[in-house]
Amino acid sequence: MTDENNDRSTNVVWHEHRVAHEDRVQRLGQKPGILWFTGLSGSGKSTLADALEASLFEQGRLTYVLDGDNIRHGLNRDLGFTDEARVENIRRIGEVAKLFVDAGVIVLTAFISPFRADREIVRSLVEPDQFIEIHARAPLDVCEQRDPKGLYKKARAGEIPHFTGIDSPYEAPEDPELIVDTADHGLEACVAQISDALRERGMI
Ligand SMILES: Nc1ncnc2c1ncn2[C@@H]1O[C@H](COP(=O)(O)OP(=O)(O)O)[C@@H](O)[C@H]1O
Ligand SMILES: [Mg+2]
Repeated sequence: MTDENNDRSTNVVWHEHRVAHEDRVQRLGQKPGILWFTGLSGSGKSTLADALEASLFEQGRLTYVLDGDNIRHGLNRDLGFTDEARVENIRRIGEVAKLFVDAGVIVLTAFISPFRADREIVRSLVEPDQFIEIHARAPLDVCEQRDPKGLYKKARAGEIPHFTGIDSPYEAPEDPELIVDTADHGLEACVAQISDALRERGMI
């Protein structure tokens, strides 16, 4: 696949367009970036991304949420849950998130993204201050008790192979920009914690 791709890109030349990233940033008057939520299924990534986006949008920011399941319905519907497919899943999401950042948008992503190396690849796609890794942290038993989509029940019954935390690993971030403990704090407190951190960083 790699060789074929290399051949293919030989005759593809980057076209510089007149409207630059800086122009779009100026038009929107905000600092674009990726707020990358990672964590076990049921840890609160989608709930947090949704609530934080609503708050940012309310404050006049242009935002967009890329959410795991939704993306798997469309862009990545050809991908399953093997290690290889998970890597490709995150690679594509990273490239899409990068396009959003180029467009000047604050993009929030809600993917388990279990592998550290994949998250680091996405981090490397944008400027250092444009990637905020947020670990939605909750113990497995709490996530399993919440089981908002009934997935743990199915996984325990052997109906979902390669389920993160059950029979597929989750590599927690070693040095994330932020950790939100969703088992110990309510949604509002978690959103406030993230908002404060973004303000401290001068991102909002
Ligand atoms: N502080 C919190 N932050 C986010 N979700 C929370 C929090 N406390 C409880 N929850 C609940 O946990 C569940 C998280 O589900 P979801 O957001 O779908 O998880 P994920 O997207 O990580 O799989 C929801 O039912 C939500 O109401
Ligand atoms: Mg989710």
